[in-house]
Amino acid sequence: MDTPNTDSTEVISTSVPTETTVIEDRTRRNADNLEVKGGGGLETRGLHAWFNKHHALADVSLHFPENTVTGLIGPSGCGKSTFLRMLNRMHEFIPRASMAGEVLFEGRDIYATDVNPIEIRRRIGMVFQKPNPFPAMNIGENVIAGLKLAKIKVKDKDTLIEECLTRAGLWKEVKDRLKAPGGSLSGGQQQRLCIARSLALQPDVLLLDEPCSALDPGSTLRVEETIVQLSESMTVVIVTHNMQQAARVSDYCAFFLSDGGPGRLVEARAASAEGRFTVCSPDHRRRFSERKGSRQIGLVPSPWDTPLTPRRTPK
Ligand SMILES: Nc1ncnc2c1ncn2[C@@H]1O[C@H](COP(=O)(O)OP(=O)(O)OP(=O)(O)O)[C@@H](O)[C@H]1O
Ligand SMILES: [Mg+2]
Repeated sequence: MDTPNTDSTEVISTSVPTETTVIEDRTRRNADNLEVKGGGGLETRGLHAWFNKHHALADVSLHFPENTVTGLIGPSGCGKSTFLRMLNRMHEFIPRASMAGEVLFEGRDIYATDVNPIEIRRRIGMVFQKPNPFPAMNIGENVIAGLKLAKIKVKDKDTLIEECLTRAGLWKEVKDRLKAPGGSLSGGQQQRLCIARSLALQPDVLLLDEPCSALDPGSTLRVEETIVQLSESMTVVIVTHNMQQAARVSDYCAFFLSDGGPGRLVEARAASAEGRFTVCSPDHRRRFSERKGSRQIGLVPSPWDTPLTPRRTPK
């Protein structure tokens, strides 16, 4: 991927945060204005990653408030996928990979010795760049495949399959062919099937690594709509190379860069801050996508100066 052009550097601060970046105080309060403690929020503190001796990621402290979508953006190789994998302990599957720092989930370090990594991966689900349905399983079986692996029993599988496919925005398209192989679906449908598979485990957080990179615009839009809907009930972190996608779906954006050394977090903020990087209502999104000359790829800040209404008001 190209490095950012000079226009984009004006909005990317070069200072490296040393303390946790709390993007915005969105403390939930009840009718008496008392703070309401909720689960599902995620926070990293001083996170580092190595592959053997290669220092891939340095000192990332970032807060993901619950029920929000955060877009992770940055050039190829700056450590976005590595960062994502550390958020649900997938990093430790890689031989000779190591890490330092803390990942707090509901205020507790997921790397603490008494934490069960399988439970963490159930509650913090992940969808990969390339859809990976199980080819030998049909669509319905794919949805509940994770339950079998985690040895979780469900009373009413059919209802669960319908619920997950509905939440993933796929039910209407597949309800009459649940016995067809997962591999018979289109790329965009397979990606939503993988989202449904993650949802069956009832995660509190969903991590998505470039989920739309191989999809056509129509499938991309459907996956984006799914992401926005899911954020009503869970925290979503999405890696994307597409600034416009980040603008469409994110509440917050975090920018990573590598200057030859390890990747670092260089800026994180509310996507609607200063009215520059904005999130869109569906109506605004449509108008935005119809805008002449809008560009799709890279760290080109085409939506920076398009003040739009935030997708939803802070809680
Ligand atoms: N399994 C691995 N073994 C060794 N090095 C790795 C491994 N995975 C990633 N790296 C290295 O870590 C660094 C960060 O890689 P990562 O895949 O996290 O980047 P990325 O930002 O996700 O890039 P892209 O946008 O291309 O997906 C790179 O230098 C990469 O070569
Ligand atoms: Mg990646």
